[in-house]
Amino acid sequence: MNDLVIRNCLDFNQEKIDILIKNGKIAELSKNIQISNIPEINAEEHFVTSPFIDCHFHMDATLSYGLPRINESGTLLEGINLWGELKKDLTPDAVKNRARKLCKWSIARGTLGIRTHVDVSGDSLMAVEALIDVKNEMKEFLDIQLVAFPQDGLYRANCLKNLETSLKMGVEVVGGIPHFERTMLDGASSVKTLCELAAKKDLLVDMHCDESDDPLSRHVETLAFETTRLGLEGRVAGSHLTSMHSMDNYYFSKLMELLLEADLHIIPNPLINITIQGRHDTYPKRRGLTRVPEQIKAGLNVAFGHDCVMDPWYPLGSHDMLEVAHMALHVAQMTGVKDMEECFKAVTINPAKTMHIDNYGLKKGCDGDLVILQCKNPLEALRLKPPRLYVIRKGRVISSTNPVKYKVNTGKDELIDLIF
Ligand code: FE2
Repeated sequence: MNDLVIRNCLDFNQEKIDILIKNGKIAELSKNIQISNIPEINAEEHFVTSPFIDCHFHMDATLSYGLPRINESGTLLEGINLWGELKKDLTPDAVKNRARKLCKWSIARGTLGIRTHVDVSGDSLMAVEALIDVKNEMKEFLDIQLVAFPQDGLYRANCLKNLETSLKMGVEVVGGIPHFERTMLDGASSVKTLCELAAKKDLLVDMHCDESDDPLSRHVETLAFETTRLGLEGRVAGSHLTSMHSMDNYYFSKLMELLLEADLHIIPNPLINITIQGRHDTYPKRRGLTRVPEQIKAGLNVAFGHDCVMDPWYPLGSHDMLEVAHMALHVAQMTGVKDMEECFKAVTINPAKTMHIDNYGLKKGCDGDLVILQCKNPLEALRLKPPRLYVIRKGRVISSTNPVKYKVNTGKDELIDLIF
């Protein structure tokens, strides 16, 4: 296990600290740690944070942009159809190679925890096998958590049987997609069945839920009810929840009580929600992001996901969670200081809580997992999305880069950065 001391870091409140990691764990955080004869990094008064965590992703589809063709309309449905075309030709090596490449991008961005849905619909569980292999291969560098995701709907083509098999293979979270089932009743029934399955197997739940602009898509109500009924409080997440954007305000106020009772984790996906929702609107066009500021204010755990990087649904991205938080604070109009700090927490502490990651955090006894960014504080991180100077996993540097400086010539040459 690794020992390391990092000197002259700036913490969340811009206090200068040293951090000592011994045997891969944080052993001390204080102003001037007296120790020698172990490897040392000088952070040179740059911001240190626990790693970024992405609690909603699709690693089986990532980096497949353009295969077999591009989603020209940019809609969710064309994306789902395109994924159906691509899925037929997937090979284990292709899935693994793209997933490995994505993991390396994630590490470079300081994202060391990923919850990825894996499609269990269709004839084969090849992608499940492939991603279990990648998860094991990469565990020294980042934590991958797999969700069994019945993309085509639980009650179509073998999905429930495949989902149960994937759980036996080692997938640890039960997924779902109630709004995509044939009827509202089927949707509600799928939520009940899947929550009961999770309760029986003592597993976490994370469902794509109400990912539409239809204000009457209310499966989150059933999800919250089943969570409480089965004693799963704090173990269930609702992903997307975009219909909430369009719901009646009275109904929303009633619904919030159920969500709080269930201690439901909320996973908005700002990059994708702002791109895909409102597609049936003329003007004004709805944004389609769930009600983030209200959920945070009420005390729910809100964690942002990236969802997609260069796949059938989204042509952009490099798995940078700061890009996700940056989009969220714009779309949700969260530009106050506390609001922006909340958006930073929604890509660090909050998703770690959603994924039940043990030993996460910048305190004594936690894993020595840290990211040092070329900026001074979390708000500047959001503004600049700056280079990750060091990414540290259990006391070992697993990615690094030199600070970016620009040579500007306005009469005389100067080296500048963009720090305020
Ligand atoms: Fe998703």
